[in-house]
Amino acid sequence: MSVNHIKTRQQLIQLYLDFFKSKNHKIIPSSSLIPENDPTVLFTTAGMHPLVPFLLGQKHPLGKRLVDVQKCIRTQDIDEVGDAIHHTFFEMLGNWSLGDYFKEKAIKLTFEFHNKILGIKKEKYAVSVFDGDKEYPKIPKDSECTNIWVSLGIPKERIAFLKGGIKDSNNNWWGPAGQTGPCGPCTEMFYWSTEEKPPKKFDVDDKRWVEIGNDVIMQYVEENNGEYVLAKQKNIDFGGGVERTLAVLNGLNDNYETSIFQPIIKEIEKISHKSYSEEKNKKAMRIIADHIRASVFILGDDHGIKPTNTEQGYVLRRLIRRAIRYGKLLGIKENFTSKIAKSVIPIYQDYSELKRNEKIILNELEQEETRFNQTLEQGIRKFDEISKNLEKSKKEISGKDAFLLFQSYGFPIEMTQELAKEKKLNVNLKEYNSEFAKHQELSRTASAGMFKSGLADNSETTKKLHTATHLLNEALRIVLKDKNIKQKGSNITPERLRFDFNFPRKLTNEEIKEIESLVNKKIKAKLKVTKEEMPLNKALNSGAQAEFGAKYPSIVSVYTVGSFSKEICTGPHVNNTSEIGHFKIIKEESVAAGIRRIKAIVE
Ligand code: ALA
Repeated sequence: MSVNHIKTRQQLIQLYLDFFKSKNHKIIPSSSLIPENDPTVLFTTAGMHPLVPFLLGQKHPLGKRLVDVQKCIRTQDIDEVGDAIHHTFFEMLGNWSLGDYFKEKAIKLTFEFHNKILGIKKEKYAVSVFDGDKEYPKIPKDSECTNIWVSLGIPKERIAFLKGGIKDSNNNWWGPAGQTGPCGPCTEMFYWSTEEKPPKKFDVDDKRWVEIGNDVIMQYVEENNGEYVLAKQKNIDFGGGVERTLAVLNGLNDNYETSIFQPIIKEIEKISHKSYSEEKNKKAMRIIADHIRASVFILGDDHGIKPTNTEQGYVLRRLIRRAIRYGKLLGIKENFTSKIAKSVIPIYQDYSELKRNEKIILNELEQEETRFNQTLEQGIRKFDEISKNLEKSKKEISGKDAFLLFQSYGFPIEMTQELAKEKKLNVNLKEYNSEFAKHQELSRTASAGMFKSGLADNSETTKKLHTATHLLNEALRIVLKDKNIKQKGSNITPERLRFDFNFPRKLTNEEIKEIESLVNKKIKAKLKVTKEEMPLNKALNSGAQAEFGAKYPSIVSVYTVGSFSKEICTGPHVNNTSEIGHFKIIKEESVAAGIRRIKAIVE
């Protein structure tokens, strides 16, 4: 197959998985968009994210070479959406060496895939390499990498050293994804995306060069004190965006013109009676296509995320409401988001969760749109009134007014900021945040505290909470006398565990006490925690608990706690329940219809 024959995402993904399979990589399924066990991020932001325990040295049941395509969401780029290449949701091709092959082999594999399999010619290829950082003299410039590229026939003029240091975003350094964790220099690959003759010299600032891949050479770990230490296990982490790669292979410099987005854009054209080919409609149509696609994936993720004012639910609400506002700007009068969603689902037939949750996706969009439509127009009028009444010299909307727009008209603060920006005004965010804090106890999300990426940590407390979660999972089924209770989600921070499960009603105080005391009894019983690797089928047949709707690889780790609990899990765990301490439930609440949430601590 040559470049010109790769028309669909499925074709590209298949070629990628097949190629790495032929190089002895095992295919792993895409993990959920909602990260397990990660305190500092709301969404999975890269393919490496769910693999952090294995990048840190834990043995992966499928071995040392893995490949996948991972659904990702990056909300920090949300303001850029509307241009030709930025997205909130995207798919990432990923291959990993977990302490197996290293730099030379990784670069050769990536190049072979780009050059031989995708048919990208050397003449249209350029790379960037880590230049070193004066602040960190122990971490050298990556000349080795340059030599490897030269040996593959990439001329020196096509190898750039990005000038930003380790802490700069314009650099050749990747990670850690959070405050601490695996990271290292990286080498990025670029493709000349237009018909014009590519210049001899590679200039990263020339937007016609589009980044299509990144090999992270994970040989360091950033520690709490900000020091970089050599990693015990050296890894390779490749990531490549599906949307961009497909676009450039088809000679397009607009991702929205690819076969991925065309059905969505066509639907928007049909509903709005406007054409994408007209420049003035492009931004709104791209935002609607992007945000509704992301919303479909969040709602379809089996975690029961609904539009709310906290955490993932807040991001979802923000995406839907922003899409609705842009729909209005296009002149759409009727409810439209669920119609757009209907055009998204068939594009992604390989994600069975979307089909399975189709009704929920469409209903939630419909409801959220109806809710927002009741206040949107009045809210816009209110906003206009507020901005008109500002004193001439004052170019700022007060936090109080921004909060009024949020509370009475449902305007996410980011929407008010966007409206303000269009009128060249600021919003007093500090005051808004303190208004917010005054009115309700809020998740850190709404004030953007949780958009930073982060990693699961393997601290002692986290291990205790992990094992306590298994005990809680089992105790719930026993105390509530309901064998059908299943994990619907879990999130562990060094402070607490959070566990979601299906159950139709509030738990009574007695039940909570009983659950606590059963877990504590099992802690006191000094049960041994053991780990075993086995094929997924065998694990399920042996009665091991699995999270509802989660996708697992063909070989999994099963953790057994005495004869009390057996669960498929990646860990990490304590060796004996006696290490856990005292278990205490601090909150029990509803998160969605039929789904309860427990927060608990160990002391
Ligand atoms: N984790 C790397 C990235 O996101 C591959 O670019």
